[in-house]
Amino acid sequence: MSKTSTNPHNNAKIAIFDTTLRDGEQAPGFSMSADEKLMMALTLRDLGVDVIEAGFAAASPGDADAVRRIASEVEGPTICSLARATEADIKIAASALHPAKRSRLHIFLGTSPLHRQAKLNMSKAEVLAAIERTVGMATSMFDEVEFSAEDAIRTERPFLAEALECAARAGACVLNVPDTVGYATPDEIYDLFSFLIANVGGADKAIFSAHCHDDLGMAVANSLAAVRAGARQVEGAINGIGERAGNCALEELIMALHTRKDIFDAHLSVDTSKIYTASHTLAKVTGNPVPRNKAIVGRNAFAHEAGIHQHGVLNDRRTYEIMTPEDIGLSGNALILGKHSGKHALIARIEEMGFHVEEDRLNAIFVAFKAMADQYGEIADAQLIGLIEGVTGNAASVWSLRRVEMRATHGSAAEPFARVELDHPERGQVTDIATGEGPIHAAFNAVQNITGISARVEELEISHVGAQGRTDCIADIVLRINGKKFAGRSRTRDVIPAGVEAYVDAINRAAAAMDIDIFGREKTTADTTTTADAA
Ligand code: KIV
Ligand code: ZN
Repeated sequence: MSKTSTNPHNNAKIAIFDTTLRDGEQAPGFSMSADEKLMMALTLRDLGVDVIEAGFAAASPGDADAVRRIASEVEGPTICSLARATEADIKIAASALHPAKRSRLHIFLGTSPLHRQAKLNMSKAEVLAAIERTVGMATSMFDEVEFSAEDAIRTERPFLAEALECAARAGACVLNVPDTVGYATPDEIYDLFSFLIANVGGADKAIFSAHCHDDLGMAVANSLAAVRAGARQVEGAINGIGERAGNCALEELIMALHTRKDIFDAHLSVDTSKIYTASHTLAKVTGNPVPRNKAIVGRNAFAHEAGIHQHGVLNDRRTYEIMTPEDIGLSGNALILGKHSGKHALIARIEEMGFHVEEDRLNAIFVAFKAMADQYGEIADAQLIGLIEGVTGNAASVWSLRRVEMRATHGSAAEPFARVELDHPERGQVTDIATGEGPIHAAFNAVQNITGISARVEELEISHVGAQGRTDCIADIVLRINGKKFAGRSRTRDVIPAGVEAYVDAINRAAAAMDIDIFGREKTTADTTTTADAA
């Protein structure tokens, strides 16, 4: 990689303006309660963003409350509220931001012909007057005032420059140039920011900011182009959430600036090792999982399955990794064991789990592993242990699921129940009927009653895999049994048996590892660390 800097900005500071809790939160499916917003704001503080846009105080009493709570409880970043260019909005924002150590008001007003005519019914002169009046009023009420020319990209250049100059003259210290509809390309953005920075009077006292939407999938590229042209603040959201297709994904922007310092020559105050936590906290809080192949924070971002890649990474991870997983706060990369994996990766994983297997055994395990991978796709550690034990003569499989029936009626007071039949080589067919909070929980209770092994479900993930017109469900479960973790996995046509079979699989592994008898009683207190830790 070339280390020649093509950027004349000499390690300039780029401020990160996080709008996860405002632009992100206003998108359908991403709303958060005040408690959830506060939790996310604390995570953003730990990440080290410069500004948290906590909400749009005038939008609703709930939004004002969330802004107020974040302003009182989150120290470090500047806390900001959005406001329209009206006195009423400014006053509501001032009250909500009152507790903040450092406050910013973010005033926006549409400047494009379309917004002036179709939305605001205002002339150019009226738009300029409103900017001057409201920015001027806000400067004495907040530590900082930012002005956004909404739909800047579709605004006539001379008028956009005039509007931004008007805002700077009235006291705005940040001039935001939003691509509200995600229409621009990187070349256009570079050109526009270069023009504005050169032509807006008073711009030397303000910083230019980019706010790019992702309608054409170019939000991050456009934001980076703005930085190259001289923007010193970028607005975006974790996981790229935001109106419609979302905003610039901050984790991508941050890692691009970090990894390609040779191009951008900029520095940030963020701690990149907090990125993974921020992304996954947001996913949890909003109930929107991070896509597996998402850049930087997806499960596959540091995972390798293909044998050639695994071999390369085992020798030197730089062969297929341009960042380290540690950079974003992960403890290591993942060599996914699947049908594309080679022997090198299999041996590495077997050794990592503390097993020593002779060469001839290894060949047998490798053959069995490939057959299993054809069936399951990805092989979990627990399955691999089963394979090692099976091939080496310590088969772990004891209980198997014969039949499961469940009942749960939505809207009824009747408790959900499940009837489960398991087979055991010595105990034969055993049936139990149990109730639970939901039908799957009831089925797990029935398995516990039959096997005598009590377990707490720590994780349950169901994914769909499809090939040649057939869709299967793969269930992955992690159980905690007597303080140790055991993983189970199953692949079936339907969600329900997949979940129960994975549960039974984990119970079998626990029974084998902990030397549990056929009625669930521990026979010895032998050390089971290897299996437990492998889960
Ligand atoms: O996209 C946009 O124009 C906005 C403004 C409020 C900055 O979100
Ligand atoms: Zn926006």
